Amino acid sequence: MIIKRKPIIAGNWKMYKTVSQALAFVNELKRAVDEIKDVEVVVCPPFTALFQVSEALRGTGIGVGAQNVYWVDEGAFTGEISPLMLKEAGCSYVIIGHSERRQYFGEVDDYVNRKIKAVLAHGLTPIMCVGERIEERESGITEKIIKTQTEAGLAGLVADQAAGLVIAYEPVWAIGTGKTASDADAQQVIGFIRKLVSDLYGADVAAKVRIQYGGSVKPQNAAGLMAQPDIDGALVGGASLDVDSFSGIVKAAAGV
Ligand code: 13P
Repeated sequence: MIIKRKPIIAGNWKMYKTVSQALAFVNELKRAVDEIKDVEVVVCPPFTALFQVSEALRGTGIGVGAQNVYWVDEGAFTGEISPLMLKEAGCSYVIIGHSERRQYFGEVDDYVNRKIKAVLAHGLTPIMCVGERIEERESGITEKIIKTQTEAGLAGLVADQAAGLVIAYEPVWAIGTGKTASDADAQQVIGFIRKLVSDLYGADVAAKVRIQYGGSVKPQNAAGLMAQPDIDGALVGGASLDVDSFSGIVKAAAGV
């Protein structure tokens, strides 16, 4: 049986946009992607804007995600935000294990795994990020790194949970550098991730899980990436901050 996966284009705003800037952006975005069908669109603002952005997007079909989470529901964890809080703020997705969190905030595979389990327990969808650094690619250990990160992130998940995940392959050397992975290189690693999921959970789960590419995605290179058989969308940083470029990527994924 052939399973058709709906592409998902998510904008990771990182630490950009105040509440008023976020609201102005989504009100414009609503109009820009109004006619687009068959592509899921998600924005991931900073925590401070989540609630108001969710309210502004209610009923539009555009989803809202957070960029991080802690794995406990509540408690004395100064500065942290729980899955429960994200859910009530209107989120349905949570980016987990982004390379910037791994690089600057000490996030390790075990935290990624705990966070994934915590958000799944609240019915939120994790967008689990994996990716190799330039020195790892150059020394030929890309697949080893991707295998370690993927298997550790998914540890202890059952098949149904794995099938509903979004995984984002973001080669660290392609993030914010303007150096996109070639269509073939991105497909190769994403095909490898799907094979890993298949080895862990079987072909049916692997056929359902959506795997995005991220790293310098722009309207100009999106169509080529999206045309690859295993690439189911994009996690977009810089180009997601501008309505024209973000909606251009959504349109490329929709083939319009
Ligand atoms: P850029 O699109 O700015 O390269 O960032 C990618 C990214 O980190 C998305 O999570």
